[in-house]
Amino acid sequence: MESPFKPNILNGKVALLTGGGSGIGYEISSQFGQHGACVAIMGRRKSVLDSAVASLRSLGIQAVGFEGDVRKQEDAKKVVESTIKHFGKLDILVNAAAGNFLVSAEDLSPNGFRTVMDIDSVGTFTMCREALKYLKKGAPGRTSSSGGSILNISATLHYTASFYQIHVSAAKAAVDALTRNLALEWGTDYDIRVNGIAPGPIGDTAGMSKLGPDEIKNSSRKEMPLYKLGEKWDIAVAALYLTSEAGKYVNGTTLVVDGGLWLSRPRPLPKEAVKQLSRTVEKRSRAAPVGVPTSKL
Ligand code: COA
Repeated sequence: MESPFKPNILNGKVALLTGGGSGIGYEISSQFGQHGACVAIMGRRKSVLDSAVASLRSLGIQAVGFEGDVRKQEDAKKVVESTIKHFGKLDILVNAAAGNFLVSAEDLSPNGFRTVMDIDSVGTFTMCREALKYLKKGAPGRTSSSGGSILNISATLHYTASFYQIHVSAAKAAVDALTRNLALEWGTDYDIRVNGIAPGPIGDTAGMSKLGPDEIKNSSRKEMPLYKLGEKWDIAVAALYLTSEAGKYVNGTTLVVDGGLWLSRPRPLPKEAVKQLSRTVEKRSRAAPVGVPTSKL
């Protein structure tokens, strides 16, 4: 799909993306590269990284892959430093690495809970912390007045509650808290903007194939604006907005990109029935003499 942005909006920028080798992370890498950025991607699986880097390069993007697990502080440090060594600076950190599986709360072991917290929440914090000294205003490759930016990929499932996702709900709630707190502290101290994106159901992703309920994937409801699946592109252009100059006054926000789905509950009555009921009730109350309960009419 054609980009709504000019192709040079990230010219001269260097971005590091965890989970950048597949899914939403790869699409963001690709769109960043197609808008001028040099891209470093971090992931656990060498084969995934290699093929992602080859695809990015085939698009003319300056890309490099670094193996690492965000759960390991030494990996986080090593990958951030390798990015600096390779590209000379760092402007944008995207935390897109995540772990997920469906399991009921009673069947989830504490270690299963901890594993997702470690990847999503602690991993995001660790990456941010390791990247800080390079994202600060005045860091190598940046001016003394402008800092870099961080983007955390979150979710909407913790806004209410979700079956079989207690671990991910807790982890993403923590990610949103990191986004706000780092935006406050590092925005104030270092001119670093920290934002998030909360994607809805996005087609053709590991998350969707692992977690997507069939009524969202298959039913005719997906033709309705609220329920249709998003595309990875939708998330990537939101990422471009938040990390480019277009988003220069946006800090500490998590942008929901889900077509409005998180607001939804199953409709309790068909619309026509509500209209009819509402008219009937109003007619009754208008006709009712003062003091006579409508139930008696
Ligand atoms: N149901 C219940 N518990 C599960 C589980 C499942 N489907 N998958 C893993 N766990 C538990 C394990 O039982 C283990 O706990 P235990 O030691 O008490 O038994 C714990 O989680 C760690 O599992 P392990 O397989 O060692 O973790 P891992 O580091 O190899 O894998 C995951 C990490 C679990 C997140 C794995 O699903 C993964 O890497 N997925 C790829 C990324 C992904 O999910 N992306 C989707 C993004 S939406």
